[in-house]
Amino acid sequence: MRRKLVAGNWKMHGTRSGTAELIESLLGAMPDGQAECAICPPFVYLTDAARLLRGSPVLLGAQDVCAEAQGAYTGEISGAMLRDVGCHFTLVGHSERRALYGESDELVARKFAAAQSQQLVPILCVGEVLAERESGRTHEVVGRQLDAVLQVVGVAAFARAVVAYEPVWAIGTGRTATPEQAQDVHAFIRGRLAARDANISGSVRILYGGSVKAGNAAEIFGQPDVDGGLIGGASLKADEFAAIVAAAG
Ligand code: PGA
Repeated sequence: MRRKLVAGNWKMHGTRSGTAELIESLLGAMPDGQAECAICPPFVYLTDAARLLRGSPVLLGAQDVCAEAQGAYTGEISGAMLRDVGCHFTLVGHSERRALYGESDELVARKFAAAQSQQLVPILCVGEVLAERESGRTHEVVGRQLDAVLQVVGVAAFARAVVAYEPVWAIGTGRTATPEQAQDVHAFIRGRLAARDANISGSVRILYGGSVKAGNAAEIFGQPDVDGGLIGGASLKADEFAAIVAAAG
């Protein structure tokens, strides 16, 4: 049985006091469910967040990680640093990093490996843009993004990783993939892993992300290969996020 996971990606939002308020409200609203839950605040608020989350079931994640272990990389944050301040997860290859900061499949694969080498659990984000979907290339694009990581780390590494399918056209647009569209790509991802190792493919969690709200979460999470969600906008509202976690539980 794969335990469902709901992770909130706060992106570049909030203030120090707002972060504390949101975490306190979230802890007050959290349902007693079966689902695992994590939040990924901005780097500079991770230490505060770790302190506020101590003793709670909510896990901490970062939004990105440097591909290098340490050294002269101005502005970067290493996996060891993230681990040191209490992170359990880190996103890698979010579509905004790929599109706005030029992260290649190869760099994302190195970030995935760097995260794991510091005992972080990477949440590998993959997904197609609208033109790729409309030209029938979704599987090709998602397969390429996945293969780039498999080539570097091998399938065994997915025993300690999470995949997030996020169609880029659904992120922050209010336009969600239908449950069938999500299931189709999730099954494709699981099948691609199964071709290399059936045990690992059966245990890896594949999250859906892209305009998930309290109102549509249950239907999406009800698909057989959807193991939870990666939530952007709706993770900034405690009640809404808690309702999404409840829908997964
Ligand atoms: P959204 O973002 O829920 O606001 O669409 C999801 C994401 O970018 O991870």
